[in-house]
Amino acid sequence: MAESRAINFGAGPCALPHSVLEEASKSLLNFNGTGIGIAEISHRSKEFGQVISEFESLIREQLQVPSTHVVLFSQGGGTGQFSSIVLNLLARHRLLYPSLSPEERYLDYVVTGSWSKSAADEAKRLGGGNVKVVVDSRESSKDGKSFDNIPTHDKYEFSKNPAVVYYCENETVQGVQFDVDPSSSTSFPYHLLPKDDPDLTSPLIPLVADYSSSFMSRPIPRLADHAVIFAGAQKNIGPAGLTVMIVRKDCIVDVDAAAKLGAAPVPKILSYKTLYDGKNVPNTPATISLYISKLVLQDMKEKGGLQYFGELSKIKAKKVYDALKRGEDKGGVFEGKIKEGNGRSLMNVVFGINGEGAEARFLEGAERRGLKGLKGHRSVGGIRVSLYNALSEKDADTLVQYMDEFVEAEQAR
Ligand SMILES: Cc1ncc(COP(=O)(O)O)c(C=O)c1O
Repeated sequence: MAESRAINFGAGPCALPHSVLEEASKSLLNFNGTGIGIAEISHRSKEFGQVISEFESLIREQLQVPSTHVVLFSQGGGTGQFSSIVLNLLARHRLLYPSLSPEERYLDYVVTGSWSKSAADEAKRLGGGNVKVVVDSRESSKDGKSFDNIPTHDKYEFSKNPAVVYYCENETVQGVQFDVDPSSSTSFPYHLLPKDDPDLTSPLIPLVADYSSSFMSRPIPRLADHAVIFAGAQKNIGPAGLTVMIVRKDCIVDVDAAAKLGAAPVPKILSYKTLYDGKNVPNTPATISLYISKLVLQDMKEKGGLQYFGELSKIKAKKVYDALKRGEDKGGVFEGKIKEGNGRSLMNVVFGINGEGAEARFLEGAERRGLKGLKGHRSVGGIRVSLYNALSEKDADTLVQYMDEFVEAEQAR
């Protein structure tokens, strides 16, 4: 069975560990000796309760989530969180500062790609606050319109008392990512956040990060300084349908009390308090996705956890970026979209292929070798290589070999 499987470089849903899929396929028929399949078992059963608590513990343990934060989950994906964050954090701001006008409630967005732009657009659509794009990386791009960099620290100017400060850690479509090294010019500028302003009622910054495509790929820097970290499961940890949020407790607020003070009413299922009070099962959760994600997290732990996967990601990405560079140097067959030093992603390597019909030839050749999911996002085109946790170094090597051979063949044309 393993031999017949392709190598899936898709951006999500994407590859999952083979051993996990084998175990999950058995559980589809009979979960844990219950005689009931995992797709059929009640989310309120004792056995499924165990899955939920193990899932939470595996996240807490591996990411070292402090006691100030809770692990919540829901359906609705990253897109659902674009709305939830705005509603919950505007409610929090209303409770802290009841008399400010909407114009005085700043929602600061760091826009570095399509996903953070979508999140900022949703905040504008929902209203109730003043959405301020703190920095838009297109302004520092090579052509003034591409998301091809993480801006340097001098470009940011945060509001004094924001209701939200938002960024996307890894932009899946364009392949730009913040650096974990704080001394790097492409790291997130935590030191610029308005933490020490004496006028603030709460010195806790409402810092929100979309980790959809880099969650569990390496340790999260400054996790404790975040108000909300969220991620859809469908990249590194499991099938689509599950969204994980790590939420600081001061952001779990009584949204109905805030509504009485004039905040927008929050749909019950989008309220973090509903999830928290309902112990993550106020309604039916994405059971299969939760179960498989739990197996993936267990498998990760056995293989060496985030340290191991963080190192592996660096190795895989380096190999692919090196092959990309060779293709650039040899007659410009390849063309990286993000230049080295500008915040190249370890998860999604995005590049173009020069020459009439060359991209189609690359994709056809890849398909023949069982290398799938390499077509870039429809909005930017080109090639995208997604290197999530389930892909091994050997998988990256197989792709690299193909990339090198393709360059030779193109040059010989
Ligand atoms: C970084 C990022 N944020 C948000 C989303 C949207 O997630 P969903 O499709 O779960 O709504 C995606 C989807 O690929 C993503 O990559």
